[in-house]
Amino acid sequence: MRLLILGPPGVGKGTQAVKISKVFKIPHISTGDILREAVKNKTEVGIKANEYMGKGELVPDSVVIELIKDRIKNKDCQNGYLLDGFPRTLGQAKALDTVLSELNTRLDKVIQLYADEDEIVIRLTGRRLCNNCGRNYHVKYLAPKKESVCDDCGATLSQREDDTEKIVRNRLQVYDKKTKDLIDYYKEKNILVSVDAGRQIDTIANEILKKLNNISLCSGQS
Ligand code: AP5
Repeated sequence: MRLLILGPPGVGKGTQAVKISKVFKIPHISTGDILREAVKNKTEVGIKANEYMGKGELVPDSVVIELIKDRIKNKDCQNGYLLDGFPRTLGQAKALDTVLSELNTRLDKVIQLYADEDEIVIRLTGRRLCNNCGRNYHVKYLAPKKESVCDDCGATLSQREDDTEKIVRNRLQVYDKKTKDLIDYYKEKNILVSVDAGRQIDTIANEILKKLNNISLCSGQS
């Protein structure tokens, strides 16, 4: 399974990607996570990316495309992968098509998640992440047992710098301007499945899996 999960910031891409990649036993590749790691390690890419990420703007295509090109050629991607947060522009989508055709492969499905904008703002401004293991929480929807402490490893939770309301609103505008058109791009390729992400986490996961399984059964029969 070569999958891609697409949708606005905070719609729940990462939350669902963790679940789906476990089911299909494929790596979850998040460009946001790769870039944040580079920022933390102060690498050349990280220093450049930080200028954009802090404002909620997109990192230039040239930087991100190189990261993904290298990553999907890794051995652990031979049986598939789930891309999260890439592509985010038409240029990135076309570059991905080129790499995939060089590797003689293609995307099987693109999962599009959608939800109400006000709900997204609540999700992002309430998100907390473990400083040690990265586990994702929400102050209201997915609260840790003890406030600001990770249930798994006991480390402190913190808020992502780009999760303030002002930056979240900018990220949503950037999504509308630069990423939303990819929905039509993949619809035309006939590989898009759309799922209402304004519901409970497990309900969404079950619907995604149902749609993916139905589709793979159908394509097996035709
Ligand atoms: P990235 O890290 O990819 O951020 P994003 O796309 O803005 O998405 P998020 O990770 O914020 O949200 P999500 O949809 O994964 O939601 P989550 O599951 O965490 O990118 C960050 C930045 O990096 C970009 O702004 C850009 O600068 C740069 N970048 C990355 N990729 C790039 C690219 N390809 N090109 C250029 N630049 C790039 O859920 C959010 C919260 O809601 C959590 O607290 C969660 O617990 C909660 N939640 C999730 N689902 C539900 C639910 N169903 N009900 C209630 N709560 C829920």
